[in-house]
Amino acid sequence: MGIPGQEHLWDKEVKGHRTYNDIRIFTDEQLKNYTEEELKNFKPKHDTPMLDELEKGPWPSFVSDIKREALHRKKLAQDDMMIPRDVADDLLGQVELSYVEKETHWKHGGIVGVLGYGGGVVGRYSDQQAKFPGVAHFHTYRINQPGGKFYTTDWLRGFCDICEYRGSGITNMHGSTGDMVILGTTSDQLEPIFFDLTHDLGVDIGGSGGNLRTPSDCLGKARCEFACFDTMDMCYDMTMTYQDELHRPAFPYKFKFKFDGCPNGCVASIARSDCAFIGTWKDDIRINQEAVKEYIAGKIPRNGGEMTGRDWGAFNIQEEVIERCPTQCMNWDGNKISINNGECTRCMHCIDVMPEALRVGADQGLSLLFGAKAPILEGARLATLVIPFIYAKSPYDNIKAVVRKAIDWWTEEGKNRERIGELINRVGLGTFLDVLGIPAMPQMVKEPRSNAYMFFKESEVPGGWKRDIKDYRKRHPA
Ligand code: HEM
Ligand code: HEM
Ligand code: SF4
Ligand code: SF4
Repeated sequence: MGIPGQEHLWDKEVKGHRTYNDIRIFTDEQLKNYTEEELKNFKPKHDTPMLDELEKGPWPSFVSDIKREALHRKKLAQDDMMIPRDVADDLLGQVELSYVEKETHWKHGGIVGVLGYGGGVVGRYSDQQAKFPGVAHFHTYRINQPGGKFYTTDWLRGFCDICEYRGSGITNMHGSTGDMVILGTTSDQLEPIFFDLTHDLGVDIGGSGGNLRTPSDCLGKARCEFACFDTMDMCYDMTMTYQDELHRPAFPYKFKFKFDGCPNGCVASIARSDCAFIGTWKDDIRINQEAVKEYIAGKIPRNGGEMTGRDWGAFNIQEEVIERCPTQCMNWDGNKISINNGECTRCMHCIDVMPEALRVGADQGLSLLFGAKAPILEGARLATLVIPFIYAKSPYDNIKAVVRKAIDWWTEEGKNRERIGELINRVGLGTFLDVLGIPAMPQMVKEPRSNAYMFFKESEVPGGWKRDIKDYRKRHPA
């Protein structure tokens, strides 16, 4: 995680690595300062009849959890907390008011942060400060999560102590972009939190504003046999390479990277990132014919057992795999499966159904797609394929060269608050390809255009655009 030279602060392999006990703020007694009995009888500061309804039902209740935090804070000494004791109580109170009135009670906007950075903290103020002083300031801190969101409890405990001591003790694990989020603190605690995060936890803050946002990844090669590149390594490398772009907004608008190890898209890069990296392969799907037979014999459950909750009948390879292949490039002759890999689009279906019999190819890399975004302004977009295949080996210089060209171009040409997807729409994919210096390929379109309003470059047309009407009139008198 995070800071150059401090990446190994918490690495158990490294001698003298940091542990929770080195930095802990609270004692065990302080952390466990209430009983379940006390919690049952606990009355928060404000009546919350509507929120109380949400403590019923089987799903973990956010209301019960915030009440737990409110009780815990009530039993801490005042100097164990740097922001108001009542923050959790007042949060419940304000949310209850919003439930009643069906309106938010946060003021518009809020600009706060830490020195040296232009983003990472989302400022927020209550518009009911007299009623709910505990949430008068309720800023949100984004902290850059580790690749694949793998943690040690030791590190998380250190993180929780800081959240509780300098913040509300309430978090979001994790924000949709990927960050760990401290929900609620005051302006005067922003720099101290930043100091603690960087010096004690060896972690940096995440992105917000017109900049590179926190990149995120699927867990990739850490725990998935489908991964076609090391998503965790690449996500980390790109995060470190573009730290400046992440911390100091220099772009027309936000920009996101996401890394999916294969087309299954477990981090949804194609929908939720301006620049999506999706693993794929170039050679043949690897087939284990013996394992295929075991699937047919019912010895291995289809889809890794995902379909066991209901009786779907015996596994029917013809119906469930061969006929569902979108390109119809597979064949089952009753004994052996065969794949015409030249026609395979690497959709993952057959591999998802029989993961122990079929493997992604060995010649692996990724596809690079650009331009996904939510509806505002010009409509929602999924990312569009720009580079069908590129190798993804550390230090990823080949990929960084392309990404750098795209970002430089958008930074020059993009209008204020125009996502790169909208810029590509405005000037055309052809122009974008010219910028990247790559030739147009049939794989970049789902279908050719149906209208005939084509632009030609002047250089492509014999005689060019400069014509004299008089020459024309010699042949065609008015
Ligand atoms: C009896 C013969 C034809 C008739 C009655 C006819 C009729 C039409 C009509 C009604 C339109 C639609 C105009 C609009 O929506 O504004 C049109 C569009 C068009 N026609 Fe024809 N047309 C004929 C022959 C041709 C021929 C021979 C060509 C080309 C060699 C041609 C090329 C076009 C083109 C390029 C458009 C514009 C398409 C577009 O706006 O997307 N037409 N025609
Ligand atoms: C004396 C002959 C012609 C006349 C009077 C004529 C007239 C027109 C007119 C009035 C329009 C509609 C313009 C607009 O909607 O703004 C038009 C559009 C068009 N004409 Fe012609 N036209 C003639 C010959 C041709 C020929 C020979 C071709 C093709 C070989 C052609 C291709 C087109 C096309 C493609 C459009 C649609 C352009 C666009 O919508 O941007 N026209 N023409
Ligand atoms: S996107 Fe692919 S590689 Fe990544 S976790 Fe999901 S299935 Fe595995
Ligand atoms: S990956 Fe998809 S397209 Fe390729 S053979 Fe399997 S089912 Fe067919």
